[in-house]
Amino acid sequence: MDQIDKIKESFDIDIVTVKNTSDLEQLRVKYVGRKGLVTNAFSLIKDIPNQDKPKFGAELNKCKNYIENLLTEKKNGFGESSQSKDALDLSLPGRKQFFGRKHPLIQVEDQIKDIFRSFGFSVEDGPEIETDYYNFEALNIPKSHPARAMQDTLYITEDIVLRTHTSPVQIRVMENTPPPIRIIAPGRVYRRDTPDATHSPFFHQVEGLVVSDTVTFADLKGIIQAFAHRMFGKDAKVRFRPSFFPFTEPSAEYDVWFNGKWMEISGCGMVHPNVFRAVKIDPQKYSGYAFGMGIDRIAMLKYNVRDIRLFFENDLRFLQQF
Ligand code: PHE
Repeated sequence: MDQIDKIKESFDIDIVTVKNTSDLEQLRVKYVGRKGLVTNAFSLIKDIPNQDKPKFGAELNKCKNYIENLLTEKKNGFGESSQSKDALDLSLPGRKQFFGRKHPLIQVEDQIKDIFRSFGFSVEDGPEIETDYYNFEALNIPKSHPARAMQDTLYITEDIVLRTHTSPVQIRVMENTPPPIRIIAPGRVYRRDTPDATHSPFFHQVEGLVVSDTVTFADLKGIIQAFAHRMFGKDAKVRFRPSFFPFTEPSAEYDVWFNGKWMEISGCGMVHPNVFRAVKIDPQKYSGYAFGMGIDRIAMLKYNVRDIRLFFENDLRFLQQF
């Protein structure tokens, strides 16, 4: 009986030092495991006089229950807190962080904006859903004009379109700003084109407009040359080809030579007097030039991308290269 008391006493001392579930497991093995102190004590029964056996057995069982209950109680006490401590496994590898970056077209747009800002231009914005008036009429393209066929338009209603170019921003700016004017207007434009390597139903342009009492076609050529050199380096060449746009006269298309090939960038020309009249600027007093730029084309030329659709498919294998 003394022995049982000793086991109990030593257990009472041990149990207060337990700090976690593995300490607890050690105690369980020490006392009630297969070779534990209590388990061993049961083998003493055979040496005890018969009349004392029941009392001893009962006392030992009480001791065993006492120990097992306390072990369980302690274990439940650790419960959640010890579990969540185990769940924080500092040896696990860290989670990979993915850093985003600007889309290549936005990167190119940002470069274009920086270059023109350094030339003294400010950046303007206009709606992508436009009225027929701003997209066509005010730009000297009346309803019957064959030039409307030049641009396959996505109509929302008879009078509302998805803008086919950024030129309507010219009108919006001239309506609100007296000359001198020196702006660019980047943005998305839409045409009813079937997608292929060089066509997409939406793409990106930058409009340029300069109005003052002195500007000439030479200024227009100069600014486009200067832009090409800044964008593509000193070896880039620019060529102008006579062309037609209803809102400029004379008009030209221009190409940039870079990486061993010519790429058509867009059109340009001197602001047509009818456009000035539409915004109530006196064509006798002022002159102006305007130009467009295809951002997607510039990006294709700069990065040697052969298919415009790659810009819009969101394939990370493509986008991560920029
Ligand atoms: N808006 C014309 C186009 O999209 C380009 C252009 C802009 C031409 C400005 C002349 C002046 O094709």
